[in-house]
Amino acid sequence: MSAARSVTAVAHANIALAKYWGKADTAANMPAVPSLSLTLAALRSTTTVSADPALDADEVTLDGAVATGRARERVVRLLDELRALARSTVRLCVRSHNDFPTAAGLASSASGFAALALAGAHALGTPLAPAKLSAVARRASASAARSLFGGFVVLRLGADAAEPVLDAAAWPLAMVIAVTASGPKSVSSTDGMGHTRATSPYYPAWVAAAPALFDEVERAVRERDLEKLGAASEQSALMMHASMLAARPALVYLSPVTLRAMERVRALRSAGTPAFYTMDAGPHVKVLCEAAAAEGVAEALRSLEGVERVLVSGIGPAAQLVEAGS
Ligand code: DP6
Repeated sequence: MSAARSVTAVAHANIALAKYWGKADTAANMPAVPSLSLTLAALRSTTTVSADPALDADEVTLDGAVATGRARERVVRLLDELRALARSTVRLCVRSHNDFPTAAGLASSASGFAALALAGAHALGTPLAPAKLSAVARRASASAARSLFGGFVVLRLGADAAEPVLDAAAWPLAMVIAVTASGPKSVSSTDGMGHTRATSPYYPAWVAAAPALFDEVERAVRERDLEKLGAASEQSALMMHASMLAARPALVYLSPVTLRAMERVRALRSAGTPAFYTMDAGPHVKVLCEAAAAEGVAEALRSLEGVERVLVSGIGPAAQLVEAGS
C-alpha cells in the first residue's frame, strides 16, 4: 500500500433477548448456546482505522486513552485476522469512541468490535461480506457478531456468523435502559462465563434449557408477539443469572436497584403496559416495550431511588461505513 488509507465505521450496541452465556470452545470463541438480540439505535461506537506503512506497530486508542494489556491484545488479534485475509502486513492506527457512557458499565465491546471489523477490512482494501465480518467479530467477542446487523439478529448454535431475522422497520419496539448506580468493579463477561462454566452446578442446566428458550424467543419475534417475546426473554435473563448466582464464589451482577427496577416493570405490566426486563453482566435494567409506551416506562424508572439516568432507544440499523467528510 503506498499511502495511508483511513476508513470510519459506525456500529450499534445490541441487547440479547435470548442470552449468550458460556462457550463451547474457548479458543474458537464458539458460544455454548444460541442467542437473539436487538440492535439499539441510541448506543453507537464510531471507529476509524488508518493503514499506515510508516507504523511499525498497531496504535489503539479507545475513548481517548491508549489501550494496553488485554484490551489492546483483543484489538490486535482481530486486526491480525484481517491482515491474514488481506495478505497484508501493514500496521494500523485505530481510534474508537462510544457515544454512550461506558463508565456506567454498559457493554461496549459488541459495537466496538463490529465497527472495528468493518472499518479495518476496508482500511486494508479488502471489503468482506457482512457474514464474514460477523465471523471475524465473533472471534473477538461473540456478542459483536450480532452488531454487524440491524433489527433482530440471531447467532445460532455452532454458527460462524450472526444473521438478521427481522429488520428495524418491521416492528417498532423500544428499549428503555435504567442505568443504576455503579457498584464495585464488575467481572467481565468473558471471565464471568468461564467461572460459571467451571464452578456452577446450574451451568449444565442453563446450557440444556437455552435452545428451547431461544426457539421461543425467535418464534415470538417472527410472529411479532410482544407478550410471548417478553415472557421468554425474561426467563432467559433470569436463567442466565441463576447459573451465575450458583457459581462458587457467586457471581452477583444484580443490585438492590436492579431488583427494584424489575419490581417496577412488573407493576407497570399489572397496570396494563406490556413491558419486560432483561439484565446482562451488570446491574442495569433494560426494558423492552412498544415504542409508544417508552416515555411512560422511562418516567416510571426515572423516579426510582438508585437509578442514575434513563436512556430510551429505538431499534438500530446495521453497521455502516461513514463517508469521508460526513
Ligand atoms: C451477558 O460477547 O461480551 O451480554 O464472547 O467472551 O467477548 P465474549 O463475551 P460477550 O458476552 C455477552 C454476554 C451477555 C449476553 C449477550 O449479549 O448475549
